[in-house]
This record gives sequence, structure tokens and C-alpha cells, in this order.
Amino acid sequence: MSDQVQDIKNRLDIVEIIKGYLRLEKSGINFKGLCPFHNEKTPSFFVSPSRQMWHCFGCSRGGDMFAFIQEIEHVEFADALKMLADKAGVELKHEDKKLKSQRQKLYDALELSAKFFERQLEGNKSVLEYLKNRGLKEETLSEFRVGFSPSQWDSLFKFLRTKGFSDREIAQAGLTVSNANDSTRYYDRFRGRIMFPIFDISGRVIGFGGRVFEQGNPGKEQGPKYVNTPATLVYDKGRMLYGLDKTKMEIREKNAAVLVEGYMDLLMSWQSGVKNVVASSGTALTPMQLDILKRFSNVINIAFDADAAGQSATKRSIDLAMLKGFEVKVIEVGEGVKDPAELAQKSQEAWQKAVLKARPIMEFYFEATLKKSNPNVVENKKIIAGELLPEINKLQNSIEKAHWIAELASHLKIKESVLEEEMKRSPIETISEEAAQAFGEPLKRTRGELLLERLLYLLASNPQAKESVDSIELGGLAKTELGGLFSKIRENNDFSEDDKARLDYIVFKNEVFDKPQEPEREIKFCLDGLNTIVLKEELNRLGWEIKEAEKKQEVKEVARLVGEFKQKSKKLGEIYGSNQIKGQEKTS
Ligand code: UTP
Ligand code: MN
Repeated sequence: MSDQVQDIKNRLDIVEIIKGYLRLEKSGINFKGLCPFHNEKTPSFFVSPSRQMWHCFGCSRGGDMFAFIQEIEHVEFADALKMLADKAGVELKHEDKKLKSQRQKLYDALELSAKFFERQLEGNKSVLEYLKNRGLKEETLSEFRVGFSPSQWDSLFKFLRTKGFSDREIAQAGLTVSNANDSTRYYDRFRGRIMFPIFDISGRVIGFGGRVFEQGNPGKEQGPKYVNTPATLVYDKGRMLYGLDKTKMEIREKNAAVLVEGYMDLLMSWQSGVKNVVASSGTALTPMQLDILKRFSNVINIAFDADAAGQSATKRSIDLAMLKGFEVKVIEVGEGVKDPAELAQKSQEAWQKAVLKARPIMEFYFEATLKKSNPNVVENKKIIAGELLPEINKLQNSIEKAHWIAELASHLKIKESVLEEEMKRSPIETISEEAAQAFGEPLKRTRGELLLERLLYLLASNPQAKESVDSIELGGLAKTELGGLFSKIRENNDFSEDDKARLDYIVFKNEVFDKPQEPEREIKFCLDGLNTIVLKEELNRLGWEIKEAEKKQEVKEVARLVGEFKQKSKKLGEIYGSNQIKGQEKTS
């Protein structure tokens, strides 16, 4: 495995790989950008071309290119390996069935299913006719791999069985449902439906949305309009943005994402030439979806019909996007038009124009509010301010905020300062705890681990200092990964490839973050810190052992332990003493 990993690393450049996901700018010998794994406004995400490593100083995530792909695609190592191997043109050895991860099997089953549905559509005149009547061209259907599921109970199930998938795997991919009376019997989840495969950001099929086909089952029970893949190992609705795999580059180039609701809207928009589009699939945007979008653009143009602004899902999406610092604009599809798909079907140009005429969300709120109440009536002033100030308060940019305060002041003929005062009193809306969690909490590490890591770095960049660490004991830290690495350095043992990569990473991180002025002094500082931690740990243990021995009245043992306790306390005192004489040491 390991030489394959190395082979892939040699062929690919981490900077190029990461640039496929986010904007990077040069910063000295490194690159930096906004971290995709936590919410931030100033870049603390660094990539080192020389070490082929990345690290975020905000959330402490980092590693090599495989770690990046694992984090950003939410996949296991095996899948990251597969993805990068494909990119590098490296053929993986041992790619037999057994070694394949469970996820990979699901991906395979889903991909085969998409092909199966595509073939079913090819021969189905009435469905093709229907799609054509909705305005969809063949080219669009094949680009998005639209298909059809036969109305039999088990056609897909049987097909996948012949391809070697187990009942369980097929069910795990979300493709079948088990019988209510007999859970060992399965039938197809999607029957007689127009199938929209759902892709992840790198274009793999991860699930399906199946739209009812009216003419398919005349007289039969139709079920809901859409049947969707449930949550599976590879499908998480909260992270999925339909279409993004094909539209991300356009979104980045235009620095704007057009957000629509449905699969049909997305396909029709794409076909009309508005290709910087994503679909939310009928629910409010999640913080995770917004984080993903933010990697490509900070402008969202939301398409909805006029009264949808008040609908809770749309409103929630807008609010969250504003709180996350997006510039939010509104696209109106116009009176009597159901949705973007309908508008685009009527006229491509009409949809293009509607997108071009997108207006800032604030303008839209102002208009709606001022239409309802006349601002010249005294009682209305309070109502209008009460409606608009909380919206203005959601803007993350203070200049924008000031602009809209001034605007409101002129409508109400009230001083700006009064409105500012009033706004301060209205509660500031923030993102919920749960949402904050989804942004990625910094990983928690003990002080001992931090010191040990710093020490490893100092030793790696100052090999002559190795002697000074001969006698240090690591206590509980010895058993950690860092502890293992430390003893290998100290004993001049051979490094594995993994060890080298780990150390390389530590060096990179520390160099970017905090290159030492006086390495020797810092080594002493780390050693003292570590010694203190270990000594305290042992004093704790000894104290406890002394109590136990006393209980059992083991006089000799108590004496021995007390002796040891005294000796260690003295050592600890010496460390404290030596640092006191030398004056202030940083104690972070
Ligand atoms: P729409 O009802 O607007 O569907 O729901 P649509 O895709 O535009 O289809 P047409 O135009 O009627 O043919 C918008 C989106 O909401 C989700 C789907 O993702 C759909 O595309 N939805 C809707 C569901 O998940 N389940 C449903 O029952 C309905
Ligand atoms: Mn629709």
C-alpha cells in the first residue's frame, strides 16, 4: 500500500489538488486561503508545496493530500486513495472485492443502478415524450444521466443480484425497501419513476430522486411526488447540493451561485445557459451546504416566487446565508409563473434576464415592508423599523449595515443615530450551537501533547540538540503517537514512511506558525514543561499509593513511597526554582 501512496504523491501536487476546492493565494513560500473546515474571515489555512502538506491554524486540522480529500469529501482513506489514484493515473494493486471498502461497494451499486435506469429510459417512448414536452433536450438528459425505473417490484434488485451484490448491500445503498411483514424480503424503492441521479461534488452517484410519472401507472397508487434516497453511508442530504459537481467552476468564475429548488429547475436553467446553478431539493439550506458553497462563491442569488420569501424554508436559508456573510440577492420569476423551470421553458432569455435582474435582499425587504405600511404615519414608523432593523442587523459587513440604516432613516425621516440605538437593543441573531458544531470545532489537545509536538519540531530542525533530551521521561505521553515518534528520534531508530510524513507535517506547521528565535532556550522550556507535567502525574499516583499502603498498614512500603514522593517533589521544586531565577518564561 505504502509505495502506491508514495507513487501517487510523487505524481500529484497538493497545491493543485486543493485549488480544485478553494481559492489559494501565495504567502511566502507557502499558500494560504480560507479554511473549508471551519468558519473564518481571515485565512489560517496553509499549504506547503515543498512539504506537500496542509494545515489550518484555526481548527488544527491538517495533513497530506489524502487527509485533505478525506476531510473535504467525507470519505475513508481507501476512497481517498482511489480518487487520487485515478487522478494520478496510478493503477491500484490489490483492488479485489474483499479489499474494497464498504463505501466503495455502495458507490459501485449506485453507479450500476444509474446505468440501469438510463438504459430503461432509452427504450421508453412515453417518458421521453413527456420530458421533451417539459422542454428538456436529449443532451441535457444525458449530461445529468436522467433515467427511468421500471414499474415492476424488483427489476433493479434482480439486476444488482446478478452483478454480485448482496441483499444487504443493495439495501444499504438505499435502493430497496424491506417488506413490512418479512424483513428479509426486499423490493425496489423506486418504481415507475423518472430518476435523477444525485452526484457528490466529484461526480460520483450517491443517491437518487425519483419523480412520479403520471402516465406510468394509470389507476394505480402513485405515492408521493418524489421518492428520495434515505440517509446512507454515502448519502447525507444535509451536505448535498444538486448539480454542484457540474456547476462549481461556473459558480467560481461568476462568483455567484443561482439557487433553485428542484431538479427540473436546475436542468432547465442549465439548458438555458444559466449554468452557475445549484438546487437545494426543496428544503432549507444547512450550514454545511453553505460552507460548501462558500468555497466557490460568496454571492447567492435565490430564485423564488414573490410570496415564497415569507415561507419558512426560504426565509431560513436566506437568514443563515446572511449570517454566514453571503451577499444574498433575489431573483423573481414573475407573476403567475410557478418556478424557474416554467420560466425557462417559456423562454430561455426570460430566465436569463430574471437572473441578471437579481436584486439585493434588503431592497426586496424594504419594498415589501413599505408597500404594506405608509412610512409617513407615526405609528407605522415603529412597525417598519421593527421589521427591517432585525434584517439589517444580520448583515455581516458594517458598511452595508450603515448604508441600509441611512436608507431606512430617510424613508422614516428619523435620525440614523436613533435607529442605530434601536438596533443595538434588538437581539443579535447568531448561528445556533448545533450549527456551530457543524462548522468544525477545534480539536482539543492537552498541554503535554502541544509541548511534545513543539519539542519534536525543535529536535528535527536542530539535530545537535538531541543530547539534551536523553534523560527525559514521558509518563503517560510515551504511549501516544507523538511519544512513539519522540523515542524513535531519541534512539536514532528507523523511520517508516508514515513517521517521515508525520514529522514533515509537524515541521511545516511549526515553521509557518512560529519559527523559534532561540531554539536552545525553547527546548529547555519544553523539557521543563514536560518534566513538570510528568512529575505532577507521578506525585499524584504516589499520593494515592501512599494512602492505600497506609490503609493496609504496610509500614516499609509507606516509607519507600514517601521517600520517592519527597525526591520527586524536590525535582519539581528545582524546575520551578530555576525558572524563577531566569525570570519570566512564557507559560502559554
Ligand atoms: P417541486 O414540487 O417544485 O418539483 O419540488 P420539481 O422538481 O420542480 O418538479 P416538477 O416541476 O413539478 O416536475 C421541488 C423539489 O423539492 C423536492 C425535490 O427535490 C424537488 O425537485 N421534493 C418535492 C421532494 O423531495 N419530495 C416531494 O414530494 C416534493
Ligand atoms: Mn417544479
